[in-house]
Amino acid sequence: MALVSTYIEDLLEGSEGSYKLVNPHTKEEVATIPECSNSQMERAIQEAESVTDELASMSLAERSEILIKVAGIIEEEKERFASTIVKESAKPIKYARGEVDRTIETLKFCAVEARKLEGESIRLDAAPNGQGRDAYTIYEPLGVIGAITPFNFPLNLVVHKVGPAIAAGNTIVVKPAEKTPLSSFLLKEAFEKAGLPSKALAVVTGDGPRLGKVLIDHPDVKKITFTGSPEVGETIKSQVGLKKLTLELGNNSALYIDRTEEENLSEIAGKVATGAFSYSGQVCISTQRVYVHNQISEKFITELVQATSKLQYGDPFDEGTDIASLIDESSQARLLDWIEDATKNGAEILCGGKCFGYGLEPTIMQGVDASDKLSSREVFGPIVNVNVVNDSEEALEEMNDSRYGLNAGVFTSDIKTGLRMAHALDVGQVLVNDIPTLRFDHMPYGGRKDSGYGYEGVKYAIKEMTKMKMISLNYT
Ligand code: SIN
Repeated sequence: MALVSTYIEDLLEGSEGSYKLVNPHTKEEVATIPECSNSQMERAIQEAESVTDELASMSLAERSEILIKVAGIIEEEKERFASTIVKESAKPIKYARGEVDRTIETLKFCAVEARKLEGESIRLDAAPNGQGRDAYTIYEPLGVIGAITPFNFPLNLVVHKVGPAIAAGNTIVVKPAEKTPLSSFLLKEAFEKAGLPSKALAVVTGDGPRLGKVLIDHPDVKKITFTGSPEVGETIKSQVGLKKLTLELGNNSALYIDRTEEENLSEIAGKVATGAFSYSGQVCISTQRVYVHNQISEKFITELVQATSKLQYGDPFDEGTDIASLIDESSQARLLDWIEDATKNGAEILCGGKCFGYGLEPTIMQGVDASDKLSSREVFGPIVNVNVVNDSEEALEEMNDSRYGLNAGVFTSDIKTGLRMAHALDVGQVLVNDIPTLRFDHMPYGGRKDSGYGYEGVKYAIKEMTKMKMISLNYT
């Protein structure tokens, strides 16, 4: 932890104080984290600004090399990264390792895309009087990017902002989630070891709304990229003025299972259990609302309860653990309240519904009203609602009856149903014959409605962190 401790000690000096970071599972103290002052945030921004020309003038090949080196450093220290994720977030070790693997992939995609930051040629003679000119576009960096990141993927979702920013030739100031800042410090260390100028990537820890506001208001910060709740996203949007903005917000992800899937129900049920309960459902695209055709619903529910009963919960460091503690006790209390509200309104708990330690058992509910929070809001916990429908049209209507629009899934062997639903679903990504809890790190990833706007997914995020310029050459 040599460099990491140095960063933390440096920030502690001159900070407003500190807070104890605790392991959400054991409640043991993991580290002392600086509560940075507003002037520390301002200094980080000024320092990032002071090296913008250096980053902008790095060749695409140089930026790509740094990104590849970081991927290699993380690969070599995989267990250190994974165990840090476990300690700060209580993510079960197998999923923490999965996150580290994905992070390496994300960085490799960034390295590839950095080399392909290409514009296009434009035929100006397509316009009257445009003859005699060659025109083309180039993509220039914006300068300093401000990133505000969530607790649930403390490494990969930070890399989804840092990697594209560096690939595009920007510098970046990260305000990581208060509950999971350690992975960001490890990442900063890896970038520095890989040769990135130290000032080009800053990690500033402490109170989200206060430090976030300094980042948002600062004239040198040219773009804000945020992943988190729709409520915070809305506040940021109201503060950001004319700056560029990407918002990756929540979802109440829906899945339809068609009657054609009778033969595959056991496999689908296993996938739904994974999609609903991995990392205790604390994932923006966790499978939350399942709509299953009435001809197969009974069998599906039996299979889903069976698949869920196989999940192990307990210590996140145990290799076999699927479900561990939630990020904090207030999440546990909120989920219990929402379950109680839904049951008062007539919903039934098919399994789970109780706490263990600081976690919640994987919970399957039926008969949840569409207006209940368990259906209409993002649950961000290990709870899935099963709804029985008469056909795909009914499912489509229910699935689209949502304030959110990130990912949705459809299982069907009928191509026409699959395509019709894919076109009609009002979401950014439709996964046909997959659960909605699916993301590959190079795919476009962006929401509609209250799920936000703008895109991540390496290539798309890079473009959003650049400004396009057209150059025309008149040879008449
Ligand atoms: C998220 O929770 O927003 C990201 C999900 C993922 O990257 O798999």
